[in-house]
Amino acid sequence: SILSKNKDYDYIFKIVLVGDTCVGKSCILVRFSDDIFVDNYVTTIGVDFRFKTMIVKNKVAKIQIWDTAGQERYRSITTAYYRGAAAILICCDMTNKESFNNLSNWIEEVSKYIDQDIDKMVLMNKCDLSSERKVDSTDVSKFEKEKGIKVMEVSAKTGQGIDKAFEYIIEKLINKNDKNNKNNMVLQGENNGFKPPCC
Ligand code: GTP
Ligand code: MG
Repeated sequence: SILSKNKDYDYIFKIVLVGDTCVGKSCILVRFSDDIFVDNYVTTIGVDFRFKTMIVKNKVAKIQIWDTAGQERYRSITTAYYRGAAAILICCDMTNKESFNNLSNWIEEVSKYIDQDIDKMVLMNKCDLSSERKVDSTDVSKFEKEKGIKVMEVSAKTGQGIDKAFEYIIEKLINKNDKNNKNNMVLQGENNGFKPPCC
């Protein structure tokens, strides 16, 4: 196909941002894609997306990031966009305890629409406001242990931790992708001599 001839990437991943309204998902998206912070808050209606190309482990990874509306009333629109996601980044706000408590609800919500083995990670945003922090680090450790989901502190405002968080998840996805391909190769090797009926 034209795409494979002109392929300008080694990997392509869809990543979806979810989480309560006002935790900063759209600011995270724009910080990651354009490296800017826009302060005039406009709640997202439905969804928005951006592309960004990253070099991870010497490979070109093209990332398609979908930013969804946090408001409940748009839920029927946003859930349609979970399909095909390689990873879901559940976002909360360090200065808003409720947004942290709601992480469990988000995990439950996305689990209705995506496979269990899809990678999930929490971005705890607004770490520039650490003096107003409302989420205990002991609660964070407890959450990580109980859910088996990593929590990374970020700030869309200063950019702190954003690239690191995305690099972390992309590297994980690349490793998983390569491991799956390797398994396929091993399988093919073991199946030497076997011809599927279609051939
Ligand atoms: P919905 O679209 O309604 O789901 O909200 P959202 O999660 O996309 O929130 P958005 O990115 O629009 O940001 C909400 C508010 O938080 C805005 O006023 C931002 O300026 C502010 N904000 C976002 N990220 C940060 C951050 O890292 N630090 C600080 N101090 N404020 C932030
Ligand atoms: Mg938004």
